[in-house]
Amino acid sequence: MPVIAMLNQKGGVGKTTLSLHLAAALSASGKVLLVDADPQGSALDWSAQRESDAGFNVIGLPKPILHREMATLGSGYDWVILDGPPRVNELARSAIAASDMVIIPVQPSPFDVWAAKDIIDIVKEFEIPKPNLKTRFLINRLFPNTMLGAEIADALASFEIPVLDSVIRNRTEYAKAARSGLTALETDPQGPAAVEVRALTAEVARILGVPLKESKKHAARG
Ligand SMILES: Nc1ncnc2c1ncn2[C@@H]1O[C@H](COP(=O)(O)OP(=O)(O)O)[C@@H](O)[C@H]1O
Ligand SMILES: [Mg+2]
Repeated sequence: MPVIAMLNQKGGVGKTTLSLHLAAALSASGKVLLVDADPQGSALDWSAQRESDAGFNVIGLPKPILHREMATLGSGYDWVILDGPPRVNELARSAIAASDMVIIPVQPSPFDVWAAKDIIDIVKEFEIPKPNLKTRFLINRLFPNTMLGAEIADALASFEIPVLDSVIRNRTEYAKAARSGLTALETDPQGPAAVEVRALTAEVARILGVPLKESKKHAARG
């Protein structure tokens, strides 16, 4: 049961959007729990908007007991996604302590990259107690048909934390789908957003060394 946390104390970088999409993509091949660790409860709000089952469960637990409760919460699930809190505090520490992988979404602006220093400083506290923790940057909202600027790449490189090969581009599809309690995987399953989310999901699974099971849908057909 790998646990993946989307963390960045900066609001609006895409933690909730990416948590929901990663959870939705993973739920094609296993049982997924999304833990909303943000006191604002945006993922829970999203879930409440829905008319149908999301294919994964969403619960709220914005308390610094995530690491203590994770074994119980996650039991019976193949994957747990933690949608992280704003601010770097005990809650963020608890989320890191509970996780196998920390993904730090950043928008492609040097200011956003520099602002990630706070969360990275906390992640570094875990290097000794959690030597197997995987930490990666994820570029979110890259403008379609643009490359990552050298300036951003340099700023990211200064942190010694690898950047995921998969990038998520700025696409209205993400915001549009979320407003109606959906994901881009549902609104346009073969569209560019769905394709990049599945690529991200495959990369994350590869890093964690957990093969994605054959899609439930395919299994049902075959
Ligand atoms: N890749 C993207 N393309 C377009 N809009 C995005 C993208 N990622 C996030 N957004 C939008 O940015 C806003 C903030 O995203 P959100 O996931 O709520 O960030 P956070 O959880 O870090 O505060 C939302 O309105 C969301 O729809
Ligand atoms: Mg959020």
